[in-house]
Amino acid sequence: MKKIIFFAGLFACSIVASAQNTALKVKVAQKAISLESKVISWRRDFHQNPELSNREFKTAEKIATHLRSLGIEVQTGVAKTGVVGILKGGKPGPVVALRADMDALPVKERVNIPFASKAMGEYNGQEVGVMHACGHDSHVAMLMGTAEILAAIKSDLKGTVKFIFQPAEEGAPEGEEGGAALMVKEGVLENPKVDVIFGLHISAQTEVGKITYRPKGAMASSDWFIIKIKGKQSHGASPWQSVDPIVTASQIILGLQTIVSRNVDLTESAAVVSVGKVTAGVRSNIIPEELEMAGTIRTLDKKVQEMIHKRVTEITTNIAESAGATAEIKITKQTLITYNDPTLTEKMVPTLEAAAGKENVILTAAATGAEDFSYYQDKIPGLFFFLGGMPKGKNTADTASHHTPDFYIDEGGFVLGMKAMCNLTLDYMNMNASK
Ligand code: NI
Repeated sequence: MKKIIFFAGLFACSIVASAQNTALKVKVAQKAISLESKVISWRRDFHQNPELSNREFKTAEKIATHLRSLGIEVQTGVAKTGVVGILKGGKPGPVVALRADMDALPVKERVNIPFASKAMGEYNGQEVGVMHACGHDSHVAMLMGTAEILAAIKSDLKGTVKFIFQPAEEGAPEGEEGGAALMVKEGVLENPKVDVIFGLHISAQTEVGKITYRPKGAMASSDWFIIKIKGKQSHGASPWQSVDPIVTASQIILGLQTIVSRNVDLTESAAVVSVGKVTAGVRSNIIPEELEMAGTIRTLDKKVQEMIHKRVTEITTNIAESAGATAEIKITKQTLITYNDPTLTEKMVPTLEAAAGKENVILTAAATGAEDFSYYQDKIPGLFFFLGGMPKGKNTADTASHHTPDFYIDEGGFVLGMKAMCNLTLDYMNMNASK
């Protein structure tokens, strides 16, 4: 009998909790709509005043001022220009991190909009146009809006929210550290210890109102390799006196092409091995002594990544040896696999469906592009999804891709973006609240 009362009590509690959660979501939806024009004007300001990776000084200042105005505890200068806000809810519970990246790109804007960027900057010693050509301006604006919404319902929050405004997602300038890797290194996932992280990316090729996602490997890891072949120089007219690094490298390049076609189980996950640069020789009648090539490896699965690294080394070393040449191979990890924890993804997709409408949440193919959100997911479970930013009725084929001068974002999806981030926070807290 006691047991029955206990379970009935628990059941009643969970009904009350879910009713409270539903009421909070109604507030979130109303507040997101009322904040829309404010968020759009923030985004336009960031768009007109873009800053390159590790140089997001003014952007950081505006974010910090806004968070402080909401009574959120603020840390600045995290991983150079990053801003971290901590919002402690009125009730105990997990720590949920929400992340937005802040940096723009060395691209000269060509879009005819009143708030187009005319900014110039310096990138690796070159004078360049600067543009938010990946939409990070919209991420910052939406997360500022999300912070305002969650701060307004602070007393009802069952846990703590950590707002992570991250610099240098596109990669730090040469010789500098930066991005998510540096934030993690500086302890952004500690004090308080973060339990879960959510992030979104606007997509110029997904219609406004839609959300796309993929469990497990959603975006690829990016590794760079440099291979140096050392042979023996000779006159081009007497190649038998040489160990020709150009012919050797040609065989190696073809050998590398067999890794994806013959070693990767493509029914399980995709992979890419591309050589993008080959440098050797000075004139037509000299066989050079050395050759250098550089390329990229993209994978969606850690085991496949390890296997490819091993095969690149084996194939290169053995082909070089068979030619009498020597090979030096250096593989560096640039960005890890953006890996959406499958259990977390399964639990949270209904939240996205409730925010966008079931038919608007679409399981998508993996992307071979990389995202440094992966560095957080390497430490804790996380979910990264895409938010539609393409005008309704437009064709993907007619839309400029990210990182190009014609990149364009429809702002109509911002309310959904804020709702999605807030509701993921609320639902996660509700599922994992301290009993
Ligand atoms: Ni991006």
